Amino acid sequence: MEKTSSAYKVHIETFGCQMNEYDTEVVRSLLKAKGFVFTEDRECADVILMNTCAIREHAHNKVYGHLADLKALKRQRTLVVGVLGCMAQNLKEEVTVTAPIVDVLVGPDSYRQLPDLLTRAIASQRTGDIKKGIAVDLSEYETYQDIMPERAAGVTAWIAIMRGCDNFCTFCVVPYTRGRERSRDPQGIIREAEHLAEQGYKQITLLGQNVNSYRFEDWDFARLITTVANVPGIKRVRFTSPHPKDFPPALLDAMAGHPHVCKHIHLPLQAGNDRVLKLMGRTYSRKGYFDLVEGIRRRSADIALTTDIICGFCTETEEEFLDTYRAVREVGYHAAFIFKYSERKNTIAARKYQDDVLERIKSDRVTRLVDLQKAISLQKNRCMIGQTVQVLVEGDAKRSSDQWMGRTDNNITVVWEKRATGTRPGDFTPVKISHVSATTLLGDEVPAP
Ligand code: 5AD
Ligand code: SF4
Repeated sequence: MEKTSSAYKVHIETFGCQMNEYDTEVVRSLLKAKGFVFTEDRECADVILMNTCAIREHAHNKVYGHLADLKALKRQRTLVVGVLGCMAQNLKEEVTVTAPIVDVLVGPDSYRQLPDLLTRAIASQRTGDIKKGIAVDLSEYETYQDIMPERAAGVTAWIAIMRGCDNFCTFCVVPYTRGRERSRDPQGIIREAEHLAEQGYKQITLLGQNVNSYRFEDWDFARLITTVANVPGIKRVRFTSPHPKDFPPALLDAMAGHPHVCKHIHLPLQAGNDRVLKLMGRTYSRKGYFDLVEGIRRRSADIALTTDIICGFCTETEEEFLDTYRAVREVGYHAAFIFKYSERKNTIAARKYQDDVLERIKSDRVTRLVDLQKAISLQKNRCMIGQTVQVLVEGDAKRSSDQWMGRTDNNITVVWEKRATGTRPGDFTPVKISHVSATTLLGDEVPAP
């Protein structure tokens, strides 16, 4: 019997950031509507999709590695292979030249075309008239406003509130892979939040490349986050990421005043030296950033800060790197994501500057900063010993199903032994902290009185 599309099994792997995880849920929804089904087992899939990232070279290499693994599988049977997302958008046909097993290539603004492209690819494999299906046009309008993402059941969910980025930081490929910045209609966002609350989700993270430039008619980000925080059933709202160039007082008011808006800001510094910041096109100075941090802490001392740092950007000297090192020490972040600069095709830096810091120097700077941050994180976590924190229970701990994992309002991971207390994912549970590492708080559930 001929297979109908409703019988085609799709396996999707996701690489990269939370926005990509969210996009995978959008893709699942679009495919499900056309009768595709999903499988966790790639051995029995008719279609294998990879939703990819392009932010650093390492991300590309990882995907090429996975594609190489599929070669043998594809030789054995009919299999459609698709590359979705930022790498598809950034490299376009180059992906199919490097990895000829790729049949379908779809960028982040073209997912509506995916079901048709897959159906055609499957048909063309049967007839032997193989043509690549490529959709890599960027859009100024696409926000997938009407699509309800297909999520796995859980306690925490993401909602994209905007797409693209207009900042053009000189190192960053995002404006080229995700296109111009556009904000989504708040009504669709609120509908999605209400739907999540009805399904039992307790926490929503609002996603955008630069959430503070969210604008839709008379809505700004502070109004949006407050409205989402007021949705009955939603107990925690987070966001990522704001750009340090604009942080409105109204958002700080929402964070200080609304019990459901979490006290955590991921505030990418990237570099702590003014010449490097200028070269990166970040549009703020070291002092501007420090003033912002001081303003945040004055408004609400218990807000936790985390950051992103790039080491070894074009022409960065040792003394300039030390400015970043000292900035990280001075701010005292709860956590930091520290990256080696990786030149990306099409970016302003790739066109204008020389990637002249030696690999070994980049690695050495990353190691020194990671060590510093570990010591700071450990010191901050040690201050939590003896305190009782309110934790949203997310599920089993990674290492053992005898332990629960959850997070504090500040977004710090907490792990504790399961006891016969009836605790379930989605509960808010008090945990008394007894031990810590640089990344995790460990403790015991405080029994109800
Ligand atoms: N090289 C290294 N890190 C990068 N990031 C963005 N582009 C690059 C690049 N070309 C980092 C930034 C950003 C985070 C998501 O990734 O720190 O905030
Ligand atoms: Fe990239 Fe800068 Fe936009 Fe962030 S704000 S996505 S670093 S261009």
